[in-house]
Amino acid sequence: MNIPSILRSLLATGTLLSLYFLGGCSKPSTGAAANEILIGHYGSMTGSTATFGQSTDKGVRMAAEEINAKGGILGKKIRIVTEDDQGRPEEAVNAVLKLINQNRVTAVIGEVASSRSIAAAPQCQSARVPMLSPASTNPKVTEIGDFIFRGCFIDPFQGAAMAKFAMEDLKLRKFAVFTDVKNDYSVGLAKFFKEKVRELGGEIVADESYSEGDVDFKAQLTSIKGRNPDAIFLPGYYTEFGLIARQARELGMTVPFLGGDGWDSEKTFEIGGKAIIGSYYSNHYSPDDTRPKVREFVKAFKQQHGQVPDAMAVLGYDSMYMMADSIRRAGSTDGQAIRDALATIKGFEGVAGNITMDAGRNAQKSLVVLKIEDGNKTSFVKSVEP
Ligand code: PHE
Repeated sequence: MNIPSILRSLLATGTLLSLYFLGGCSKPSTGAAANEILIGHYGSMTGSTATFGQSTDKGVRMAAEEINAKGGILGKKIRIVTEDDQGRPEEAVNAVLKLINQNRVTAVIGEVASSRSIAAAPQCQSARVPMLSPASTNPKVTEIGDFIFRGCFIDPFQGAAMAKFAMEDLKLRKFAVFTDVKNDYSVGLAKFFKEKVRELGGEIVADESYSEGDVDFKAQLTSIKGRNPDAIFLPGYYTEFGLIARQARELGMTVPFLGGDGWDSEKTFEIGGKAIIGSYYSNHYSPDDTRPKVREFVKAFKQQHGQVPDAMAVLGYDSMYMMADSIRRAGSTDGQAIRDALATIKGFEGVAGNITMDAGRNAQKSLVVLKIEDGNKTSFVKSVEP
């Protein structure tokens, strides 16, 4: 840099700084002001799982607004900083690095998709910034380290529950499994489902795979059709589920699809249309739940956003409350103290059920089985305790 250019940049900085102080700020806008606590949220605000990030963000922000309206925490207001990772694990790493190093957030909420949480959690762990995933269900997520938590159940429970439901309640015995091999959640859930089916004396007659982003599934579906399963277990996300179900019906297959929480999105109905009616999936909450806490949240969410909240919105909302409660109990914004408070969450009353953190930093919770009905809605079938 030559002298004039240094002068120029000094001048530029000076101008910016004075503008800043005129604006009444005492700190760079990227970090927390003295009267606020910054919480980072990273998620897929865009991309093929965009409803995941958007719904979670709505839930997180609704909770933060409610908490702030009641005075905030530790005498400060919560400010949410959202980073879009576009649904890509590499971008999730960048998003978290930015939240930690530039925004200097107190804690991180996210991601909801397991592969993205697995990619970014090591950054939170090494910076000792507590991370709470609202909805990542793959066991590996919290195994990354003692600063990583989740506010939901894990896939061994979800996979086993669906296998048991299919065999004991629906009386099915022969299953095809169709896995997204690029997705840690899908691979794990497929494995846990198959293990339980075999243990209960059922049969896996076809084991096919695809990759997120694929659009033509006819080859695998044709091979599945040839094996004549009673049902197809599809542990994937909503975009591919809808497309796969449509193509299966085009091939004349009428058997039900079974799946996990990854189907939960308002887009599921739009993409899947009539093809998904009669399918069953496990989820974190049912909008039909009559508990007052659920009814109040569904009503408030509808008023604010004009839609029924999906599981992500509920889990984002609960996670923000769990985080706020932990910071309050920690009595400070120190990462270690918040970590210790998260680890001792007990009987916390959330919209998606009561939460107790176990020794592996996973929430112990029940799940619900939902059925997809005609008319863009689900119906509650049963709940399963851990
Ligand atoms: N459990 C999924 C995962 O781990 C994410 C998910 C949660 C998707 C809830 C939809 C609803 O990847």
